[in-house]
This record gives sequence, structure tokens and C-alpha cells, in this order.
Amino acid sequence: MTKVSVRYEIMVVANPDELSLRAADEFVRQAGEAVQAKGFFTVALSGGSTPRDLYMLLASDQYRERVPWSKVYVFWGDERCVSLDHPNSNYHMAFESLLDKVPIPEENIYRMPAEQKDHDCAAAVYEQTIKAFFRLKPKELPCFDLILLGMGEDGHIASLFPGSSALEETDRIVSANYIEKFSAYRLTLTVPVINQAANVMFLISGESKASILREVLEDEYQPRRLPSQLIRPVNGRLLFIVDRPAAGKLTRV
Ligand code: 6PG
Repeated sequence: MTKVSVRYEIMVVANPDELSLRAADEFVRQAGEAVQAKGFFTVALSGGSTPRDLYMLLASDQYRERVPWSKVYVFWGDERCVSLDHPNSNYHMAFESLLDKVPIPEENIYRMPAEQKDHDCAAAVYEQTIKAFFRLKPKELPCFDLILLGMGEDGHIASLFPGSSALEETDRIVSANYIEKFSAYRLTLTVPVINQAANVMFLISGESKASILREVLEDEYQPRRLPSQLIRPVNGRLLFIVDRPAAGKLTRV
């Protein structure tokens, strides 16, 4: 049996509020360090419900002033193929909960053009956007300072779902991935890009994630069934911030 062998840190916190506070502290620290070291901070936001509280906290009086927003460049880890004002849009959620409430220049926000009908073209456009921003050489991968991730109850991350074709993508930076369970396409950063990040931070909350989190961290390596196991940063830091209900079935914390 191939065990999961990846170095990671896990922070188990009492509840979702504590999870958002610790994640906000990490965001502030990482942004400050990146801006001090190289003058800017690049982050790929996650969709879903867990990070929404973090985004609202970062926009609050308690945190807003602690982030150098003019030097923060925002991307997305994935996006649903819907209009940008659609309630399911990850951009829409981040805009409403954070981006519309902090002094980040509009030109610092790089939205996935997932509303485009031609999904492969949309993926290629966003890939080109990333290549231009990071000034990438051919075959070079971007190194985001931070990639935020949630984890689905099926072990998916971003829009990398079990059994989906994008799991095997090793060359592309952005993929248009057909998700059988939704009969829909989504755009997603690929595994090699996520593993190139300086920091990957999972935010996982709730008893409904307890079983899958234990499988991902403690069971054998089965990445097609458990895509979260594919996340093994090459040089970066992998941090799980997990509330106690979600950590409830882990045997090693
Ligand atoms: C999305 C996210 C997705 C999410 C997980 C967990 O577009 O929905 O990128 O990967 O992180 O589904 O979502 P929750 O945090 O809501 O449980």
C-alpha cells in the first residue's frame, strides 16, 4: 500500500470563526513578507463557502488596513463557467465579500473569463494572462505566493474532481475540465501550478469533511479518487487549517 508521503503542517482550530482568523493572520503575514521581499503578492483565491468568511474578515476594520492591497494581485484557482454576476461565480462571491470592500486597484484583479462559451479558448486566454503577468519562459510554471484551496467531500480541490481529465494535465497552466457530476465545464489551475506555489493553504471546516480529510491524509495514495492527495508543493509550504469537527477522524493530531 502506497502511503501518502507529503510534508504538511496542520493547524486544528476550535471552530469556523477561529479558522477564518488564523487564515487571515496567515494571509496578512504572507502578503507582508512577499511585498517586503519583492514588492508584490500574488494570490489565487478559492471558491466555495469556507473561504467566504475569510474574505469578509479581510475586508473588515480588523484586517483591511493590514494588507498592502495596492501591491496584491488576485487570481482564481478555479471558476464555474457561468456569467460573472451569477450567484455560483467564484469571482462574484470574492467581489461581493472582499474585492469591492478593499482598496485594491481594478487592474490588480485577474478574473478567469469563464463566461466565454468556448471553454478551451477561455482556459488558453487565462493561461496567456498568467504567462504575461509572471513573464514566463516557454514551459515555465508560475509561482504564486499563495494558493487558497478548499476540499470537497469527494476530495476535489479547485475544479480538479475525481476521475476528471484535468487530473492528468502536466503541461497546461489552466485547463477547461468537464465535471461529470455537474454535466458542466469549469476552468481550473492545474496540479503542477498548484504544486509550484510558495504557499498552499487548505481551509477545511465541518464534520462533513472529517471522513474525506482522514482518507486524504492517512489512507493510501489514490490520487484519481482523492485529488487532494496530488497537492505536494515542490518547494512551497503546505498548510491545512482545519476546524475540530473536520479534524474529528484524524488519528495523528
Ligand atoms: C469551488 C471551489 C471548490 C471548493 C470545494 C470546497 O469552486 O467550489 O474551488 O474546490 O473549494 O468544493 O468547498 P467548501 O469550502 O464550500 O466546502
